[in-house]
Amino acid sequence: MAEWRIPLSDLDYGAEEQEAALRVLSSKWLSMGAEVEAFEQEFAAFAGSKHAIAVANGTAALHLAFMALGLGSGDEIIQPAINFVAASNMTVAIGAIPIFGDIIDLTEPTLDPAEVDRRITPKTKAVVIMHYGGYLCRMREISEICRRNQIPIVEDACHAVGARCVDPAVKHLHGKMAGTLGDIGCFSFFSNKNMATGEGGMITTARDDLALRIRSMRSHGMTTLTWDRHRGHANSYDVESHGYNYRIDEIRAALGRAQLRKLTENNEKRRKLVSEYKKRLSSLPQWKFCFSEYEGESACHLAVLVAPDESSRTRVAQLLREARIQTSLHYPCIPQFKAFETYRTDDLPKSIAFAGRAITLPLYPSMTPADVEAICREIAKAQ
Ligand SMILES: Cc1ncc(COP(=O)(O)O)c(C=O)c1O
Repeated sequence: MAEWRIPLSDLDYGAEEQEAALRVLSSKWLSMGAEVEAFEQEFAAFAGSKHAIAVANGTAALHLAFMALGLGSGDEIIQPAINFVAASNMTVAIGAIPIFGDIIDLTEPTLDPAEVDRRITPKTKAVVIMHYGGYLCRMREISEICRRNQIPIVEDACHAVGARCVDPAVKHLHGKMAGTLGDIGCFSFFSNKNMATGEGGMITTARDDLALRIRSMRSHGMTTLTWDRHRGHANSYDVESHGYNYRIDEIRAALGRAQLRKLTENNEKRRKLVSEYKKRLSSLPQWKFCFSEYEGESACHLAVLVAPDESSRTRVAQLLREARIQTSLHYPCIPQFKAFETYRTDDLPKSIAFAGRAITLPLYPSMTPADVEAICREIAKAQ
């Protein structure tokens, strides 16, 4: 593995996480139990959500969200072409059809509300939105379109834990957190996320009916858990509906609780680093820093720069690699993937351009302004 001088992301793990894992080991109860219950309660309070249901990972969260909404064969799910492939894979897995919409702009790569509006058909049964890099989608417009058409919104909030909507003109959105802006919110705690447990995820919803279905499907549709039986609360179970094993375990839940306590401060550190990037990159006007005009409270998960053209992007990626600075691409345009060629349309020009010109730069709480300066110095060399 390459020895990066500045990696793309880095965990904030220390004594708190060690204590959390050891606490579970000494309790000798590893599968879903008291830690998961506490994690769910603490996450619900943090996000301002009526329900929070911890699951195995973000992909499982999306799958359960779709199943809880009753989506299935032949249903159309509108979703962004620029996203991690999880929501699209889960769409195909349930027999539904992904309808890809373009992004707003290369510097605002979230699903364009006008694209949602124009791609709605009688078969549209849900809209997936993804708060790219921790920056919220245009919620005012999207929620108005979905409300008018009575279409549920699934938030892929995997980048956006701790992002808050700032829109004083819209009461039902203003001040609310990512994951509570639609019908169901899905989070991932994969290692590179703002809150990391290795593998792990969370589902948030205000709707009792969806929460009930999700809790049941998370554990095979069984009416009781091993944990309930262990505590003497039950000694048998029925299977009321078909389900999965999408449970999270106690160690990960304990890690999640420790990470949640650090999140607000770490997101603040990310915001400061993003300001540093913006300041330093402002001297390169052909290079556009994504969301530089954003006015909400972002989770600042990613720092993404858009190159003037594809060859400049390649050149900068190479220069940074030589300086042992890790970069990435979030993301290729999904319908360009081989497995999605059936769903390809030729009207996603901005998504295709973005995938060709975007470069993700390092961003994590323990990075220093000097790291940002070193990265920007390398980028300037490519001019
Ligand atoms: C935007 C987005 N959606 C979904 C996922 C899937 O989450 P997980 O890897 O936990 O299954 C991820 C994480 O990798 C992601 O970044």
